Amino acid sequence: MSKYLNKLSSKLKPSATLSVKSRASQLKRDGVSVIDLSAGEPDSDTPEHIKEAAIKALKDGKTKYVPVPGIPELREAIAAKFTSKNNIPTSPAETIVTNGGKSSLYLALRTCIEEGDEILVPTPYWVSYPAMIEIVGGKPVYIKTTTDTRYKITVKDLEKHITNKTKAILINSPSNPTGSAYTKDELHALGSYLLEKNILIFSDEVYEELVFDDFEQYSIASLFPNDLDNFITVNAFSKTWSMTGWRVGYTRAPEKIISAMSKYQGQLSSNVNSIAQYAAHAALTGPQDFYEELKKSFQKRMNLGDEIIKEINGVDLHFKPSGAFFLFPRIDELVKQSSKLQECENPSMLLAESLLDEKIATEGCLALVPGLPFGDDMSIRVSYSNSEENIREGLKRLKVVCEKLIDA
Ligand SMILES: Cc1ncc(COP(=O)(O)O)c(C=O)c1O
Repeated sequence: MSKYLNKLSSKLKPSATLSVKSRASQLKRDGVSVIDLSAGEPDSDTPEHIKEAAIKALKDGKTKYVPVPGIPELREAIAAKFTSKNNIPTSPAETIVTNGGKSSLYLALRTCIEEGDEILVPTPYWVSYPAMIEIVGGKPVYIKTTTDTRYKITVKDLEKHITNKTKAILINSPSNPTGSAYTKDELHALGSYLLEKNILIFSDEVYEELVFDDFEQYSIASLFPNDLDNFITVNAFSKTWSMTGWRVGYTRAPEKIISAMSKYQGQLSSNVNSIAQYAAHAALTGPQDFYEELKKSFQKRMNLGDEIIKEINGVDLHFKPSGAFFLFPRIDELVKQSSKLQECENPSMLLAESLLDEKIATEGCLALVPGLPFGDDMSIRVSYSNSEENIREGLKRLKVVCEKLIDA
């Protein structure tokens, strides 16, 4: 460890999802058979017309600095999308284009959170929330949820966790990792209570288009048109458009917050890649059928994964997710039947490690993300963003390793 590292840098953990991916890639390079069900991104390519727009921008010489909060035509398209699709009246000045949804969340937290502010985080949570909150000096206050409420918080939970230091809450619907999503009524109940308590609501909606069985997705801010000052809505092109590598995210917030986020972005990184912004513009203004197809194919694969997991002793889903592309089954029953898992410190980690251990996973390895970094050590995250064949084979490997871990 370098003596120059500050306290925060020494404390900061690497992203768990990215670590599993690099371990699986190393094993693959070593010639080991690994099925990777850890992916946090759609397995399809970016649509052709979006790539074409990027190529055109490149050829047209759109290769210089552009305005820090985003190219005007993209901000206009984002404002139009928020207004018409999300039902949140929005002007371009109330939008900013950032380096992925991640950067939107970070800049928004950076802009609004003071040292010591408490931020409510429903658990299981997306892996980066705690780290981001800590980086900006806030204190994550976790609200534990269970499968009884499909991992969703209620007003009762809020009543128990709000203190005079509570500044904000992070709501992620549909959720990574649980795939749960809040209905309109649930959002209304939570929003009304949070507004009464004057709590800022960060809504992370990056999976908004990937919802199943006619689930009706709502932006929480749209339910409170007279209180838009209390909402920061974060989104990205990453999941909806299979554009994870392009790094384009966006935020809708009151103009003063957007200006402040823009100041940080301007000092830290200037604008988001100009070519990628033209590509994102083509995504919003071109044909919209891509994610409809993506959604259908994810739904089919979700059902397949759900069926197979039902056959694995000790691993239970409890409910079918409403969106995103993850299954987050519980392993409580498996742990009860396995002294190895009971005796270890972190059962989900040991299970994930065993799946990548050639001596245990003798029929081939499986990469998935343990529940621990999502705040739930009794679960594992299975991404079904993979071929049906790989889902079948990967879950077969999970079954084999689980059987080996159960006491004879
Ligand atoms: C819940 C959630 N929010 C935000 C992000 C960040 O997305 P991006 O890749 O656009 O930064 C992710 C990515 O995995 C996510 O799962």
